[in-house]
Amino acid sequence: MDAMISPSTPGKFKPEKPHHHLHHHHHRPLFRLQHSPLFKCGLIVVCASVVVVLLLCLAPSHPSSSSSSSSSPFAASRIERRSLSASSSSSWGGAEWEKRVRYSARIRRVGGFSVLVTGAGGFVGTHVSAALKRRGDGVLGLDCFNDYYEPSLKRARQALLDRIGVFVVEGDINDGPLLRKLFDVVPFTHVMHLAAQAGVRYAMKNPASYVHSNIAGLVTLLEACKSADPQPAVVWASSSSVYGLNTKVPFSEFHRTDRPASLYAATKKAGEEIAHTYNHIYGLSITGLRFFTVYGPWGRPDMAYFFFTNDLLNGKPITIFEGPKGESVARDFTYIDDIVQGCIGALDTAKKSTGTGGKKRGPAQLRVYNLGNTSPVPVTELVTILERLLKVKANKKVVKMPANGDVQFTHANISLAQRELGYHPTTDLKTGLKRFVRWYIEYYNPPGVASLTKKSARSNSS
Ligand SMILES: NC(=O)c1ccc[n+]([C@@H]2O[C@H](COP(=O)([O-])OP(=O)(O)OC[C@H]3O[C@@H](n4cnc5c(N)ncnc54)[C@H](O)[C@@H]3O)[C@@H](O)[C@H]2O)c1
Ligand SMILES: *[C@@H]1O[C@H](CO)[C@@H](O)[C@H](O)[C@H]1NC(C)=O
Repeated sequence: MDAMISPSTPGKFKPEKPHHHLHHHHHRPLFRLQHSPLFKCGLIVVCASVVVVLLLCLAPSHPSSSSSSSSSPFAASRIERRSLSASSSSSWGGAEWEKRVRYSARIRRVGGFSVLVTGAGGFVGTHVSAALKRRGDGVLGLDCFNDYYEPSLKRARQALLDRIGVFVVEGDINDGPLLRKLFDVVPFTHVMHLAAQAGVRYAMKNPASYVHSNIAGLVTLLEACKSADPQPAVVWASSSSVYGLNTKVPFSEFHRTDRPASLYAATKKAGEEIAHTYNHIYGLSITGLRFFTVYGPWGRPDMAYFFFTNDLLNGKPITIFEGPKGESVARDFTYIDDIVQGCIGALDTAKKSTGTGGKKRGPAQLRVYNLGNTSPVPVTELVTILERLLKVKANKKVVKMPANGDVQFTHANISLAQRELGYHPTTDLKTGLKRFVRWYIEYYNPPGVASLTKKSARSNSS
């Protein structure tokens, strides 16, 4: 358990080629927190217990695959080299801070919720927080602002939330005392848990960060939830990646999910099992949402649609993967606003947790839903749409997809979410990418594309 209260161990997304020769807006408002007394901690070495946990969890379960011992990602030296750089979480507390927490979480509509949103500095977390705030729910964010991808983007999202009255506390979900404090200050009705180490391929470079945020962090969070009085209902982000080597399409919640193809997927699947135990033992109401390739404004720079845009604007070649027999790789791209609608549908239909004083008093709700678009698009088509929107011709390099965790095809069956959450995605890839590109150009203001921005009167379309 020591590992769970250890300092944050996120990692850094290192693109194979430099993607971020970007020019930031100079007239963006400065972020308040740049001047706050919060200090940044430097490199913190992953503690030995995390390594032990890793070895215990992951070592010999696949006796047949002795393949990559030479490049084992579990060698301690390698993990240490890759360890984190996160913002410090040690400056919370005090009367002024509690006042901000309480104010941010205050409910402003009849029957409204007070929601703790973890990962609120992230892509999905920012959008969900804004949507909840807009309808009058109380929202408090929590994020460690690690540098897996450009922290300045996370800070810009934080500034956006700050302007609409959402306070994002800087801290790690592994910080049990911080979580207890938050539940002491605010009787949260719901927790929207979106903090995680995301990304499939990066898991080979920094496996410890996945264990830290997606397993240890999830347990610390659920521990705090089960002990809270009242217990909140929990909605959290799993992933379509749990379908792994499943080939039956469209992916249904009733299909097998016991063959993950990446450590990322394995930690999300583990999360679903951990959710089961906390529901079973403590009466926590828990809903897992399997997101399918979410994209849109304020998105994640480590995702293909995002760095393709960057590379296309910089005249760089882009690498497109194909299957072993030349099959196209396709994704069920899901627009952020549709995902937000699904998240809110899950919160609205979540039943109350049944435990009190850390004890179960009766059976509680446990659910899992796909949130996809049910319309897979080949990645080549994604590139064609971007070429049109950006008015550039792509220099495409097509290569066989490496066997590093990505699957070839995703396609969600969403009939369960439709029926039970009222989930109805409405945005096709062309429409969604248009909104993404408009945001991208406004945000980064890349040279030579002024003509594309003329029609972009909208701003901060979160
Ligand atoms: N975007 C997608 O396509 C997609 C698909 C499937 C699942 N998901 C899941 O949805 C959730 C949100 O994803 P996103 O795309 O917004 O990713 P994101 O990386 O933009 O957001 C996650 C946020 O969590 C924070 N975080 C990470 N570890 C933390 C920790 N230990 N303590 C506190 N904060 C921490 C990060 O700083 C980041 O801001 C994640 O759980 C992700 O795994 C996303
Ligand atoms: C989708 O899943 C539902 C069950 O939730 C099932 O009845 C239906 O046949 C599935 N649809 C397809 C196209 O497989």
